[in-house]
This record gives sequence, structure tokens and C-alpha cells, in this order.
Amino acid sequence: MNPADISSWISDAQKAFSAASDLDQLKIARLAHTGDKAPISLASRTLGSLSPDEKASAGKLIGDAKSEIAQALAAATEKLEAERDAKVLLEEVVDITLPVQRSHRGGLHPISIIKNEISDFFIEQGFAVEEGPELESGWLNFDALNIPADHPARTMQDTFFIEPLDSGVVLRTHTSPVQIRTMLTQEPPIYVICPGRTFRADELDATHSPVFHQVEGLVIDKGITMAHLKGTLDNFARHMFGPDVTTRLRPSFFPFTEPSAEVDIFFNGRWIEWGGCGMVNPKVLATCGIDTDVYSGFAFGMGLERTLMVRHGITDMHDIVEGDLRFTRQFGVGL
Ligand code: PHE
Repeated sequence: MNPADISSWISDAQKAFSAASDLDQLKIARLAHTGDKAPISLASRTLGSLSPDEKASAGKLIGDAKSEIAQALAAATEKLEAERDAKVLLEEVVDITLPVQRSHRGGLHPISIIKNEISDFFIEQGFAVEEGPELESGWLNFDALNIPADHPARTMQDTFFIEPLDSGVVLRTHTSPVQIRTMLTQEPPIYVICPGRTFRADELDATHSPVFHQVEGLVIDKGITMAHLKGTLDNFARHMFGPDVTTRLRPSFFPFTEPSAEVDIFFNGRWIEWGGCGMVNPKVLATCGIDTDVYSGFAFGMGLERTLMVRHGITDMHDIVEGDLRFTRQFGVGL
């Protein structure tokens, strides 16, 4: 075992390690210079056959050589790992300033947005949201609401009837039948709003659409008066149109409320009709099996299209029904 050989194994190993240009090449060099068949490993296996004196000096030489080789390997490993990490960082860098292709994921229609806004407002006050079918029985849409057979709303000009004509089924002309459905199935106290789609045989023009939406409110409890109705409407109007809006009730007539009123709002310098309201007619309560000696209630109903148009100064109904994204996007996605 000659010291010159040993130092050449060291320098061979050092050269091979520093020549490796990546960790794969370094692995090959490591096996060649420190593996089982490396000269230094073979030499260390012959130590056992040496005399004690020779063993001590050769053992030291080989031990020193092994640690020098290990040091060179560690240095090369550290350098190549650092290079690999730097390369990964560079190659996998994401340029967050690059412009991206934005795609439109879609959003809610402004009518749905305002419907949700109104629902949230009433839910916060403890109201429930009730919905009913768009194809409704004539009895629920008219008779139970005290709308007599000869009422003008029941003519072909106003109502879409479902064939055959004696089916008794209509496209609901308002959301009021949901009041009846609620009173027939729930015991008072009742605090509900009923938003939904409604239908009337109108031509589509700047202010009408044969398909439109309403939201109905119904409260049945002990001791309910018109003051509760007025307070609820004031609160609702301020939520929809801002804190400065004023409301006024104007005497009117609906078969299902007595007394009845139109609710107007003073908005942007003028009085605008917003919806209908009144105290639920005791005849309607009785039809629904509610004890009129114990309970009274109020109801109101307004159009969602109208509410949206007034609030946002929309002058043409076509904008709401035609679905032009340039219009609908102005209201956000509502999600
Ligand atoms: N249903 C009425 C309409 O469509 C509105 C309304 C609802 C009026 C509730 C009074 C009470 O015109």
C-alpha cells in the first residue's frame, strides 16, 4: 500500500467530483470513488491481512484519505444542490404581473339580485320566504282572494288561462295566491314574504312585460294595525331607496284587503307609485280558517321590475327582459 497511490486516489476522486456537472453525474463519481469497488475500499479490505505495525500506519493513511474524499464529496454535493435549487427557482418562477385572459363566469340577473336583497332584508327581521307555483289554480289566484268572477282581472285581456279553459288553471297574475297557500297551511303568527314570477297578458313595451316579478308581504298576528304596515313599508322603502325616502299611503281598492292603499314613495323630487297594500280582508282570513276575532294582518305587494326601474332610473323595460350583458353587468354578478 503505497502513499503515492493513496494520494492519487484522493486526487482522482477530487477531480471526478468537481468535474460532475449535476447531481446524477456526481452519483456516478461517488460510486466509482467511494463504492465497494473503489480503490480505497479495496485497500481498506486488505488491512486485516497486515501485521499490527503496518496495520496502524496503513489504517491511518486510509482513514485520512477516506475523510478527504468524503470532504470533497460533501463540498461537491453542496455546490451542485445549490445550483439545482437555483435552477428550479428560476424555471418554475410565476410572473404574477403577466396579464391574464379574464373569462366571464356569469352572474345573477339584476332581478334576481334585487329579489335576494329584499329577501335578506326581511329574513333579518324574522320573516320567512315562501314560494308558490307559477301555474296556479284559479281558486287560489282569484276566489280565495275575494276576487269575484266578474272582476276585470279575470278576463282574457289580463289573465293567461291554461287550456282546456275549464281546467281552472291560470298563470298566476300576482304573488297573492302564495298568501292563501301560507294561511291555509300555517298557524299564525305568520311573517312571510313571497317573491316570484307573475304573468299578465300585456304587450311588452317600455313599462310592461307579460312576464314580470312581484314580492308579496304578509303578516298575521294578534293586534296588527295599519301602523305596523306603514312602519314596515317605511323601513322597506328606506332600505331600497335610501334613508331620505318618504312613503305615503293613498286610499285604493283591492278585493283582498280592507282598507286598501297604494304606497307611493317620494324619490328624486317626485311621488312615484310603488305598490299596493292594506289590511287583509277578514273574508280572506275566514276563507283560510283564521279566527278574525283573534287575528288581524296586513299585506303588501310590489313589482320587482318597477322597483329596479325607479331605483336605477331605467326607462325601458326592454333592458330588463332582453338580457343584453352590457346592461346586466352594470349591476354586478350578485354572487
Ligand atoms: N296583488 C296586488 C297586485 O298584484 C298587489 C297587492 C298585494 C295589493 C297585497 C295589496 C296587498 O296588484
